[in-house]
Amino acid sequence: MKERILEILRGANGEYVSGQRISDKLGVSRTAVWKAIGKLREDGYPIGSVSNLGYRLGDTDSSDILNQAELDRLFAVTEWAGHPVVYKDETTSTQDEIMRLSDTGAPEGTLAVTVRQTKGKGRRGRTWISPDNGNVYMSILLKPDLPTDIVPMVTIVMALAVCEAAEEAAGGMNGSSYRIKWPNDIVVSSDSDSAWKKICGILTEMRLEEKTIKDVVIGDGLNINMTGFPPEITENATSMMLASGQHINRAKLVVSVWKHFEQDYRAFEKAGSLAPLKDKYESLLVNKGRRVRVLDPQDPYEGMADGIDQTGALLVNVKTPDGDTEIRKVAWGEVSVRGVEGYV
Ligand code: BTN
Repeated sequence: MKERILEILRGANGEYVSGQRISDKLGVSRTAVWKAIGKLREDGYPIGSVSNLGYRLGDTDSSDILNQAELDRLFAVTEWAGHPVVYKDETTSTQDEIMRLSDTGAPEGTLAVTVRQTKGKGRRGRTWISPDNGNVYMSILLKPDLPTDIVPMVTIVMALAVCEAAEEAAGGMNGSSYRIKWPNDIVVSSDSDSAWKKICGILTEMRLEEKTIKDVVIGDGLNINMTGFPPEITENATSMMLASGQHINRAKLVVSVWKHFEQDYRAFEKAGSLAPLKDKYESLLVNKGRRVRVLDPQDPYEGMADGIDQTGALLVNVKTPDGDTEIRKVAWGEVSVRGVEGYV
């Protein structure tokens, strides 16, 4: 009933619709309509009412409504990513949820979205703490037609999509800019905090079946409207809201991430490399033109980051002891890179 009332209010394009008209259309009592309107308001829908006129839906763009109906509606703009989208208020891990759905035959593009994970997974077997505090946790199912050594590069495609969506949604607000810290951290800097800080973690998991790819599950943990950060992580992490000073509409951001991903992933899959995305990635790469420290356990060194090659390796311009320069390729997944004076 809530969905049908919303449909009627949306159809009225900001005009008032009387309670009587809604109850006639739906064949329910006016009390039932009144109760459902109350529930919609609890969900965050800005529904105004005036006696003698009825109910009117306000501007939902400035609210932060995140639920199954809202995602179903907004995902009309993508072709395959988020078809279907499965929203839950809580789950163990959206990665595990997608693997379960894949095991029962879910199609490529199936997306799980939640606002709280009880067993969130991070990289290298770490836990991803996932409280319900304004963040979003989501994972998608992919069935790439690519060699297994190319597939992990999808992590870089994902970073690009998140950065593009974040920059579009909130770039410029409070002087903020969203960039990629090689290879796949999304970082923000703003007028209130000029240090580059992370707002997103990405995890890619590939499952094989007799040496061929069964599926690839890629997930993002996005710090969006979170405000209370434990002190131990504020040095390197923040949220989009803290950077921009404004509440972000999470459902719209989620859809935008996957809209960008769909386009970038298609180009990557067709080329079988990152070549078509290299220029766009480099334009958002915060390390480009900055001195970096390459934390190679055998031989740590410093140099100037130049860009990436088509595998996603970072190209670092290094001065040799005899005064020449050489370009070294830093393969991602093997060593980490930091700024010479800090995180970036
Ligand atoms: C990292 O360690 O930086 C990667 C963290 C990835 C977290 C996301 S949240 C959505 C998806 N579900 C999980 O359990 N993990 C990923």
